[in-house]
Amino acid sequence: MTNIICPQEEIAKLRQEIERHNHLYYIDAKPELSDFDFDRLLEQLLSLERQFPELVTPDSPSQRVGGTITREFPSVQHREPMLSLSNTYSLPDVEEFCNRVRKLLLLEGVQEQEMVAELKFDGVAVSLLYRDGLLVRGATRGDGRQGDDITANLKTIATIPLRIESALVADLQGEEREVEVRGEVFMRKDDFERLNESRPEEDRFANPRNATAGTLKLQDSAEVARRRMCFVAYYLKGLRDESTVHFSRLELLSRLGFFTGDHYRLCHAVEDINAFIEDWAAKRWQLPYETDGVVLKLNDVRFREKLGATAKSPRWAIAYKYPAQQARTVLNNVLFQVGRLGTITPVAELQPVLLAGSTVSRSTLHNFDEIERLNVMIHDRVIIEKSGEVIPKVVRTIPEERPADARPILAPTHCPSCGTSLVRPENEVSYYCPNEEQCPAQIKGRVLHFASRNAMDIQTLGDALVEQLVARGLIKGPADLYFLQEPQLEKLERMGTKSAQNILHALEKSRQKSYEHLLYALGIRHVGRATARELSQACPSIDTLRQASEEQLATIPDIGPVVARSIIDYFAKPTWPDTLEKLRTAGLPLSASEPREQVNRNFEGLSVLFTGGLERYDRQTASELVLERGGRVVGSVSKKTGMVVAGQDPGSKLQKALKLGVRVVTEDEFESMLS
Ligand code: IVH
Repeated sequence: MTNIICPQEEIAKLRQEIERHNHLYYIDAKPELSDFDFDRLLEQLLSLERQFPELVTPDSPSQRVGGTITREFPSVQHREPMLSLSNTYSLPDVEEFCNRVRKLLLLEGVQEQEMVAELKFDGVAVSLLYRDGLLVRGATRGDGRQGDDITANLKTIATIPLRIESALVADLQGEEREVEVRGEVFMRKDDFERLNESRPEEDRFANPRNATAGTLKLQDSAEVARRRMCFVAYYLKGLRDESTVHFSRLELLSRLGFFTGDHYRLCHAVEDINAFIEDWAAKRWQLPYETDGVVLKLNDVRFREKLGATAKSPRWAIAYKYPAQQARTVLNNVLFQVGRLGTITPVAELQPVLLAGSTVSRSTLHNFDEIERLNVMIHDRVIIEKSGEVIPKVVRTIPEERPADARPILAPTHCPSCGTSLVRPENEVSYYCPNEEQCPAQIKGRVLHFASRNAMDIQTLGDALVEQLVARGLIKGPADLYFLQEPQLEKLERMGTKSAQNILHALEKSRQKSYEHLLYALGIRHVGRATARELSQACPSIDTLRQASEEQLATIPDIGPVVARSIIDYFAKPTWPDTLEKLRTAGLPLSASEPREQVNRNFEGLSVLFTGGLERYDRQTASELVLERGGRVVGSVSKKTGMVVAGQDPGSKLQKALKLGVRVVTEDEFESMLS
């Protein structure tokens, strides 16, 4: 046990520090710590709380990390119905809305009328209930009256305060001492991309909103925490707050620690509203999250009740939605791509056209049902659309402009890669190439997946190289990579001794990846990083996993019957025994408990700081190498810092280290210290 003088104080300090960095990261978008350093802070808190469990409180940031496995979500009743908004795509409609509100208010003798314009976040609406300042319940909108209690999942979101300061809310609480906050849970674009990258191609989310909805429904809140969702608050209701205006409520929310979107504006006239809408039409693309419109709300909340609501939406608010970005172009041709699981995907080759800031020349047509639905032909004039970050899609053709040389898109009969007859299973929308083991496109897809960043992370294995390795018959699957010899590689196009050695070195390094990474790398249908993690915990070796029954697999959190079936099918393949043998011979990690290669203790007791970019290691790997060897990695320089590793373009930390006389080494020196 560490010698802690006053655990309460230490814990309180850590909590404050962690929440401060959460705020800097999520709300101010000015992080001061790397993810790695942040995780270290959190780990210190978790470790202290493990030592002193009596000091754990429900508002500790450790409670965000998740760990609760819920089997189902209980239904809860909303205090007041969660209404939706009526939508419009037209500015005259917005003006009409303002006029309507003005007239109704005039009947009440009210002249002044102000609106608050907010951005419309594209996410999932939730309600949060605070009792005596403590977050006690978080729920989905559901049917508006009843939603699902997803408190454990919502607690993982760093921009949802677990406690709101009582002095500020005391006035609002009323007898039940409750305050309700509503808002939208959403995923930032970069976090969405990171999540999709960790999922198998067949299970990727189409957009951040779908990803958010899917994540909120997960049973394993630790996985929810990993996905780093965000929350924007746009509604605050206590029981005694009739006097406040919406604009001040937003400011109060912000003072309570909520993210309120920053970009709302008080509008006195329709012109202000139009200017806000126009201003954000283009600017919204630069935001790190997706917005799909502007919400207008009557500022004075006293009149909200007077104006009332229809069955679905209030009369005091309206949503203006931006039209999707569209462009017109010509469909020049259709190619058929073969995925790693044999799925054939039709891809439209388009006459390049500018759309929402980038040139588009390709777009997926998904499958033949989609082609039929669109009734699209080669050479057709088509409209393509981009909403948010989603890959552009063909939304319709312009039938009256169909040229005389238009020709139908014929369903492929044979695989474009290996020539095998294609199959289309009953009730499925796609064609498949059944030549799983020999089809070069499928082998290439599997190898590239195996080598990808989230899998075995073999960065030197690019598309062109894998193509050659497969075409020359040097590999028939990922496991064969580990038996490649230098002379074989040297004979490949654009390959010298040095590059061949780099590839072998990268393969060698990948052997140190974990069992969990290997499970993902195998490319089992529907098994993404998160599923691989669950599997590695439930079945800590490949032998226990392949012997697990379908029923046993289906009891693992977030693994449904479809995934369970797919795992069973994978291990039943006739080629599996041979693959397993090769993986074993190659010395890959086939169980979670397998000790990693013994390393030296060259960094014992040494605190190391990295500044600037390293050429051969990413930060995470470099830090792990130090930790494994007994060292510590720190985020700031002091006299006590043992050593600073200075890479390219080092920051001010190098200056400080030199001033304090801390030992500074180059990447080469660091590398030689490792062995
Ligand atoms: S106010 C009764 N404000 O859009 C009014 N909603 O299409 C409740 N949304 O259900 C909603 N950003 O999920 C409001 N700034 C914002 C919003 C917003 C996104 C969502 C919300 C709502 C839906 C209506």
